[in-house]
Amino acid sequence: MQPLVSVRSVSKTYRRERSVVGALRDVSLEIGQGELVRISGPSGSGKTTLLNLIAALDRPDQGQVIVAGIDLACLSAARASKYRAQQVGMVFQAYNLIPQLSALENVLLPMIALGRANKTRACELLDLVGLADRSDHSPSQLSGGEQQRVAIARALANDPSLVLADEPTGNLDDQSAERVMGLLTSAVRERGRTLLLVTHQRDTAQTVDKHLELRGGVITSVSGMNTSDDLCSAP
Ligand SMILES: Nc1ncnc2c1ncn2[C@@H]1O[C@H](COP(=O)(O)OP(=O)(O)OP(=O)(O)O)[C@@H](O)[C@H]1O
Ligand SMILES: [Mg+2]
Repeated sequence: MQPLVSVRSVSKTYRRERSVVGALRDVSLEIGQGELVRISGPSGSGKTTLLNLIAALDRPDQGQVIVAGIDLACLSAARASKYRAQQVGMVFQAYNLIPQLSALENVLLPMIALGRANKTRACELLDLVGLADRSDHSPSQLSGGEQQRVAIARALANDPSLVLADEPTGNLDDQSAERVMGLLTSAVRERGRTLLLVTHQRDTAQTVDKHLELRGGVITSVSGMNTSDDLCSAP
């Protein structure tokens, strides 16, 4: 079966004046539909860069990223936005909530992008992350962990086939972290969705199908139930 995500020999370099940072170097990986994949690695190893490429928020210098059969390099800016709204739910490391909008409006936003705002569903999602009573609060009136939970509700708004979560439990206490992980993993397990989870926490209660480790922009280890070399053809 065709993988949902196929990253082929991807390199990404950031250049700024005299500094050149090789964020990803010749990275290849494949992720099947319905898989829960954990990505770990030290700060600066390229985890967020990888998620940004898969979300079509950025483009590689070399290589290809193919998601659900779509070569992301071929997308115009408008089609990339549509791809994100239809296929991807992203929980950003820095939440990226819209400060002028309430929690509820932030969750409604991806639905509006597809022309199907559903207030009941948005309220239910806020309830699932334990924020039913904070729906009219703006991000500045919420704690960091609460903003992160709104960001998770927003990522699930359109029931995306691919959820990219960048340290989604980084600012949460153990109980909230467990709740949020339960929500994310049940979205994956029960609905056949795919989750790429960047986390340093080894002891996520949820079992992952695969674990990738990045170091210095290179995949240094791949492990999981499926240990055949179908996952990664990194040199
Ligand atoms: N916009 C940018 N301009 C220049 N360099 C960047 C930019 N974004 C990332 N980098 C650099 O690319 C490398 C990889 O960054 P990335 O954000 O992917 O790391 P990360 O693994 O997500 O780290 P962390 O765990 O701290 O979030 C780092 O050295 C970072 O400084
Ligand atoms: Mg990061």
